[in-house]
Amino acid sequence: MATGISPSLVAQTHTLLQALTTSPYPNLPSPPSVPRRASVALIIRIQPSYSHWPPPRDSTSTSTPQDLETFFAQPWTHHGSPEILFIKRAARKSDRWTSHIALPGGRLDPTDADDAAAAVRETWEEVGLDLNTHGIACGNLPQRLVTTHWGKKPLMVLCPYVYLLTTHETPPLRLQPTEVAATHWVPLRSLLAPAQRTVAFEDVSSRLANQETGVRKWMLSLILGKMMFAAIGLLPTEPLHSAETPAPEAAAAAVQVQDNRHSPPTFYSRTMGLASRVYRSDVLDQFPAAPKEGPLHLWGLTLGVVADFLDLIPPHNALTLWTYPTFTPLDVRFWVWLLTYRFKERKRAELQAGSAVLYKPTFGGASESLANSAVLVDRPMTTSTTAEVEGERTDETGFHGLGTGSAVGDMKSRKAAVATMLEGWVDRVAACCLPEIADRGRYYDIVRRAVGVTLVGRAGVLALQHRSADSCWVVLYGQVYDVTSFLPSHPGGGNAILQLAGSDATEEYDPIHPPGTLRDSLPVSANLGPFDMTTLPAKEATFPAPTSTSQSPAQTQPDEDPLTSLSDCLNLDDLETLATRRIPRKAWAYYYSAGDDLHSKHLNNTVYSRILLRPRIFVDCTRCDTSTTFLGHRVQLPFFVSPAAMARLGNPAGERGIAQACGKFGALQIISNNASQTPEQIVEDSAPGQIFGWQLYVQNERSKSEVMLQRIHALPQIKFICLTLDAPVPGKREHDERNKNVGASLPVTSSSPSFASGGVGNALFAGTAADLTWSSTLPWLAKHTHLPIVLKGLQTHEDAYIASQYAPQVKGIILSNHGGREMDTAPPAIHTLLEIRKFCPEVFGRVEVYVDGGIKRGTDVVKALCLGARGVGLGRAPLFALGAGGVEGVERMLGILRAEVETAMRLLGVVGVEGLGGRHVNARAVERDVYEGEGVGRGKEGWWVGSKL
Ligand SMILES: Cc1cc2nc3c(=O)[nH]c(=O)nc-3n(C[C@H](O)[C@H](O)[C@H](O)COP(=O)(O)O)c2cc1C
Repeated sequence: MATGISPSLVAQTHTLLQALTTSPYPNLPSPPSVPRRASVALIIRIQPSYSHWPPPRDSTSTSTPQDLETFFAQPWTHHGSPEILFIKRAARKSDRWTSHIALPGGRLDPTDADDAAAAVRETWEEVGLDLNTHGIACGNLPQRLVTTHWGKKPLMVLCPYVYLLTTHETPPLRLQPTEVAATHWVPLRSLLAPAQRTVAFEDVSSRLANQETGVRKWMLSLILGKMMFAAIGLLPTEPLHSAETPAPEAAAAAVQVQDNRHSPPTFYSRTMGLASRVYRSDVLDQFPAAPKEGPLHLWGLTLGVVADFLDLIPPHNALTLWTYPTFTPLDVRFWVWLLTYRFKERKRAELQAGSAVLYKPTFGGASESLANSAVLVDRPMTTSTTAEVEGERTDETGFHGLGTGSAVGDMKSRKAAVATMLEGWVDRVAACCLPEIADRGRYYDIVRRAVGVTLVGRAGVLALQHRSADSCWVVLYGQVYDVTSFLPSHPGGGNAILQLAGSDATEEYDPIHPPGTLRDSLPVSANLGPFDMTTLPAKEATFPAPTSTSQSPAQTQPDEDPLTSLSDCLNLDDLETLATRRIPRKAWAYYYSAGDDLHSKHLNNTVYSRILLRPRIFVDCTRCDTSTTFLGHRVQLPFFVSPAAMARLGNPAGERGIAQACGKFGALQIISNNASQTPEQIVEDSAPGQIFGWQLYVQNERSKSEVMLQRIHALPQIKFICLTLDAPVPGKREHDERNKNVGASLPVTSSSPSFASGGVGNALFAGTAADLTWSSTLPWLAKHTHLPIVLKGLQTHEDAYIASQYAPQVKGIILSNHGGREMDTAPPAIHTLLEIRKFCPEVFGRVEVYVDGGIKRGTDVVKALCLGARGVGLGRAPLFALGAGGVEGVERMLGILRAEVETAMRLLGVVGVEGLGGRHVNARAVERDVYEGEGVGRGKEGWWVGSKL
């Protein structure tokens, strides 16, 4: 005797099939708007037990039992195990039920005689099983209207038919590979087993919310998280896989299922498991284990159909074992539980009392015990209350396969048991989750509140939603954007976006992306709709005073520090202090930061103090002319604004604001490649005669740089291209990194593989070419621009010398260590200037030489000019000044510096900048530190010997 196979289950199946055959469910006519019908076949076979295997068939007899009585009269059937045939649908993008476990079936064709014929034909087409030849038709299960869109949009009428295979020798199945990945025979007893009950998760955003648009879509996904559905874990006895169907991974469904399989836990798997449970709000581990790949789970629509069948089999508990659908977030789950509690209790009571069991077959005498356990209930006529609830609705299955709805046509006593169970549930849940938009103001109010509660209640979970490379949403300017597909191509690297995913990224995005970036980078469909910003927690807007290690001398005595407004600021340090209090922490960190231990930055700032000035007396200094020329263009100041990214990070006026201030002072501004506004915006409305340079970071995709050069050529105010060469890879800027890495969002970049693994450098420098050379880049540039070239970032006299060999294409060089932000312990520009004077002073005659880095005082400017610099660049000073007071702040900064330069010139006894020379400075203290090794050009000829100054 085979153990584990209950003979009564066969008898129960027999009785049930008889009842279904003699008393089929009525036909559900299609609603006028939904002509589509589909049929599925619930195919049962009796799998013989080992000890009662059927005798070999008499070869002379070809007949197989054609009716239930003859079939079940065969003794072997009494010891067999009823099994149901399931298919695993092939993975198909367009199929809303891709990779699901289902019953064979499909749409009704015009050629089909009726719904049952469609089930037979589809079964033949999908699995090669001819039910006309090998099956006994055993009636049907309740027909239902399948709906979507929260039950509002009818899709089709689904008609399930039941068949019994007439022989245990199932004919070989022939799987249609584009539709069926596999077939599985699953014992009825395992389908009934409580231990096989589990839950399946579905991503609401991918299904439900995708049917919505705009704010509804966003809100739904945000609030509802994932849905959890009742599911049955399948234990097939005989799987058959299609050899031609794509590999299992291709079939990965959007559905995650928890199953009961366990593997020994590791620390990692435990941590991930816990994180996963917290994420799914399954903190109490209500459900067995973490999702595993390749589970066979029955859920949704097919489960609804099968459950109708199972519930007709004693002990009729298929539905009481049912888990009501709910949502993963704990708060949502709680509200759904609360709102549906009484309803569910009532349904459970009705089921247990049998009052709502709408149809149980009247079991005949096949089995005493069976007859006794059967619930022989005809549904009483509906009460007025129920009638009200049911109204005129047809039997429907909405909400991803859950049975809902009321009676079939006028036969109120015959309908899907699942429908009875869930009747009204969807309405209740939908009513609380999806208010109608009749009153838009009220709707937004409700949604705002819901999101507010949701955000407060599960901030952590919220943060985790749509924060992966698989689904990445951000809020920008009050709109929700799905940026998933953009992640790989983001110039600053996908990580830069992922850091901000699931949150309002406007503050980070806006200052560093010129207008038009969104439009150019994302398809229109990426905009998911508006987002109510008032529901978000307030963000920190300003930066608290920095720690002492990061304070400048002017910041060290806050008690005595009277700085509250621009007029209190007497020097550039004051402006930096004021800005530090006013600008966001991230902006400060980005501006302030420098490489490694900030040695070079510190040297930049201190080196000038070691150079002494040599004032002369008895010189008429009533007149003082600070004007000079840059590449032949007259400017009023010998100092200029060096290219610096992200000016809008500190103040919305941005680079354009700096340009306005420069316009007033007749100062040159070099616009950064990574400016937060477009070059067109920045130069627009510039003062007459105002000039600009444009700084270029050559991109890996050269065509992008070429396009930019074309745009620059269209702006006559831009007189030269400044090619920055000291940042082929990013420096390590820890202040920036510690403060959420603002710089990491910059689209400045390098292809260095050493940064590919992540970190600030990778994000900051992704996209910028690291393969520039003397021999390839300058010829390329010559092809794409007619503008003069200024090379920026030279830190040795050798490179200055080589650059001078490229004159006249190269018209100028900027000696710079990038404000100490790149190679820490690289020399300050003033060292390189002295090196050039020492080894190859002829460079001064071939190209114009500029310096930048660490300029804080007018005397610093004057000293650099005395040593041969044609002009002096300011990097941080304009940024901090802008942060301290917008355009006015920059004006104040330029005014202060101009006054200081004038004072220094007058005290030196110099009338114009061209009068400044080496005789005005004593740089011996610094010269001692200047490089002394091998040189190029004239070689070591002693100090000043070759200088033309
Ligand atoms: C916040 C910031 C951003 C910068 N961005 C750029 C840039 O985009 N391109 C560039 O060539 N140099 C850039 N630099 C370097 C400056 O052009 C300049 O060389 C340096 O800041 C001078 O040092 P200083 O800040 O001490 O005046 C940047 C510097 C800072 C501080």
